Amino acid sequence: MNKKWGYGIAIFISIIVVVLLGIRIFFWVNKGKNETTPEYVLFYAENQVEDYPTTLGAQKFADRVYECTDGRIKIIVKCEAELGSEMQVIQQMQFGGIAFARVSLSQIAEYIPEMNVLQLPYLYSDSEHMWRVLDGEIGDFFLEETLKECIVGLSWYDAGARNFYSTKPISKLEDLEGMNIRVQESDMMADMVSALGANPMKIVYADVYSALEQGIVDCAENNWPSYEAMRHCDVARYYTLDEHTRVPELQICSKVIWDKLSVEDQKIIMECARESALLERRLWQEREKTSKEIAEKRGTTVITLPDSEKKRFRNAMSLVYEKYAGDQMDMISKITEY
Ligand code: GCU
Repeated sequence: MNKKWGYGIAIFISIIVVVLLGIRIFFWVNKGKNETTPEYVLFYAENQVEDYPTTLGAQKFADRVYECTDGRIKIIVKCEAELGSEMQVIQQMQFGGIAFARVSLSQIAEYIPEMNVLQLPYLYSDSEHMWRVLDGEIGDFFLEETLKECIVGLSWYDAGARNFYSTKPISKLEDLEGMNIRVQESDMMADMVSALGANPMKIVYADVYSALEQGIVDCAENNWPSYEAMRHCDVARYYTLDEHTRVPELQICSKVIWDKLSVEDQKIIMECARESALLERRLWQEREKTSKEIAEKRGTTVITLPDSEKKRFRNAMSLVYEKYAGDQMDMISKITEY
């Protein structure tokens, strides 16, 4: 190769290098220029762990809202009760301190007692029955009831059936007698446990493990995923399938924040909440099964109550109906026949 050719190739390669460098610098300088700075950065409270169905639902909700508003609304999900217990979160939401949350119905019912009707013991015949009710006009009616406490109800999430689990086996009603049982911060749940002959103790969710471990309580009650995710299965080895309640979860928004949003953004939020609920419900079905399997592998003994015994549990709950049904007998019949 002669000298001329050598210079030519060197110049050509230099030009290519300069052009490529120029392109890189251009993209580096313009990086982020097209990303919208969010108009709103809002927090979402969740008390479950990161891979729990409700938390994954929350993240889906946050991602979809970000996409659908072209990055104008950014929602940051804080799980594991980082923003406080459910009752504390609801209080903060009432004046706009926290924008969004997913909470157990039992906690909202402390503020709006009429909502207790949706979590009465043995109200639904099965999961399908509960979803017919929640997906229909009754569910919509109760989502709107939350407005009474400055909360906008967005959607329903699944939380399956709750069962008792304990340090000693429970295979008949008498086994509950005198037991200290952890309940949610809910008067109705406390009355339900009293009706069964046990002593209710209201303890926040994050403290249940240590209460069981230290022997402050002998028993608690929850669904399979909570029992496994919170490691309660390591300290309460007997899980009795009595399915006493189905307590759905609600995705909610602070009314103070809601009123600051445009009607279009409210619509997007509502739609994304409902979309995320579909995912949560699917994930729930899977997690119920895997949590049961994991707990059993870790040493849980599952106790199945014979129908005759389950009937005795159910009959004992009539006291709860007397106290909480109030003037809602029509609503109860409507639900049971739905
Ligand atoms: C369920 C529910 C939680 C709630 C908990 C409880 O796990 O998902 O939100 O805190 O029950 O028993 O307190």
